[in-house]
Order: sequence, then structure tokens, then C-alpha cells
Amino acid sequence: MQSDARCGSPLPPLAALAGVLLLILLQLAAHGYAVSPPPGSVKIVGSTYNGDGCPNGSTVIVVSEDAQALTVMFSNFTASTDPPISNQRKQCTVGVKLSYPQGFTFSLGDIILRGYAKLDAGVKGVARTTYYIAGLTGTGKATGPLEGPMDDNFEVPSNFVSPAISQCNTTRDLNINSEVRVVPGRFVPKRSGLITVDSTDLKLTQIFSFSWQAC
Ligand SMILES: *[C@@H]1O[C@H](CO)[C@@H](O)[C@H](O)[C@H]1NC(C)=O
Ligand SMILES: *[C@@H]1O[C@H](CO)[C@@H](O)[C@H](O)[C@H]1NC(C)=O
Ligand SMILES: *[C@@H]1O[C@H](CO)[C@@H](O)[C@H](O)[C@H]1NC(C)=O
Repeated sequence: MQSDARCGSPLPPLAALAGVLLLILLQLAAHGYAVSPPPGSVKIVGSTYNGDGCPNGSTVIVVSEDAQALTVMFSNFTASTDPPISNQRKQCTVGVKLSYPQGFTFSLGDIILRGYAKLDAGVKGVARTTYYIAGLTGTGKATGPLEGPMDDNFEVPSNFVSPAISQCNTTRDLNINSEVRVVPGRFVPKRSGLITVDSTDLKLTQIFSFSWQAC
């Protein structure tokens, strides 16, 4: 028969190799390797936000269909050198209750922060985000520094150092603290700075990437 004569290369070794590869993949999956919950299975079942950077009605939180990203959009998060001095620092605390299938843990890996900054030369801006998972130790912290002169939309990627990882099969609130600050420096005459929502989509946006593991 034709199939018995394939270049003299016997099939069993190939099949064995495939079997070994499959075994390795299964082992990796079983030992906390990256495996995501199925599309559409990660949902936000509750959320809260408060702080002077996120007045009532100004914040929207969504999880992507593919379960890879959590996006927080603020439409009224503005820090500026305009008086009063409390305008120089604005903050917001977001609480998210997620629902997702059993057998997974997550942490937040990277964050991209998008917004708009208008800073005079020497004026600095800081966007800082931390997160923690209720009842667990460990927080993730990411900082995006900006420096004047600038007058443009920005997109600052950062990643979380020592991120908290959720517990297996136990869902707890995810808490995200964000702060946006302008540091005017000691210039005479005074210089000005502003960090606010992106001028194209009118939102200060944080895009967090989920890092899922099987547990
Ligand atoms: C937020 O606004 C909604 C309606 O606009 C209102 O029902 C709700 O009580 C407000 N919440 C707070 C904390 O002010
Ligand atoms: C932003 O929030 C402040 C304080 O709640 C409010 O006075 C202002 O109208 C809001 N601005 C926009 C664009 O929603
Ligand atoms: C988590 O739940 C999954 C599915 O119910 C189960 O297979 C797994 O053993 C559980 N793991 C732990 C550590 O409880």
C-alpha cells in the first residue's frame, strides 16, 4: 500500500513525539501556565468608584470579550496648576467585583495610561496606579512620569512590580487606586501644567492586561 512506503520514515516516532509534546503542554497548563478563561466568561458584577478625580457619573469600567483586558475610562480626571492647590493632585479609588470560572487565578501585568498633558518646560506630571486584591498581601504599582515642555496626547505603558495574585477559586474585590499629579516646581514667574482626558476620545483611560493562570 502507498501509505506504508512513505519515504521509509516510520510513523510511530512522530506519533510518540506528538504525544510527548501534548503531555508537556498539559503539564504546563496544570502547573500555572498561562491559560485564559473562555471568551465572554469574565464579567463585572459590581463596581464602585470615588475620589475627587472621578465624580459621580464620570467613570466606566469594562472587561474585554476575550478576557485579556480591563479598561477604566475616566471622563473628569483633571489635575492642574490652576488654584486652588488641591487641583494639583486628584485621585480615584475603583472597586471591581469580577465573576469568572473556577480553576483560574489572575494578576494584572501591564497597564497603559492614555490622556492629554499640557506642561510648561520644567513642570512635571505623575500618573500613578496601584492595585490590590481584598484580603491578600501584595500590591501592584505602576508609575508614568511626564515632563514638560509638552502639549499632546500621551500613552504611557508601565508594568506592575510585585503584583498581587488572586486566590484559587475565591473571588474577592479588585481595588485600583489612581492618582494624577502636576508638580509645578519653583519657577518665577509661575509655570503651568495640566493632565487630563485625552483630547480625541475625551477620556483618561487605563488599560490593564489580565494575566490568567490555571490553578
Ligand atoms: C450618583 O448619581 C446618581 C444619579 O445621577 C444618583 O442616583 C446617585 O445617588 C449618585 N450617587 C452618589 C454617591 O452621589
Ligand atoms: C467634573 O466634575 C466637577 C465636579 O463634580 C463638575 O463641576 C464638572 O462639571 C465636571 N465636568 C465635566 C466635563 O463633567
Ligand atoms: C478549583 O476549582 C476547579 C473547578 O471546580 C477544581 O478543578 C480545582 O481543583 C479547584 N482548585 C482548588 C485549589 O480548589
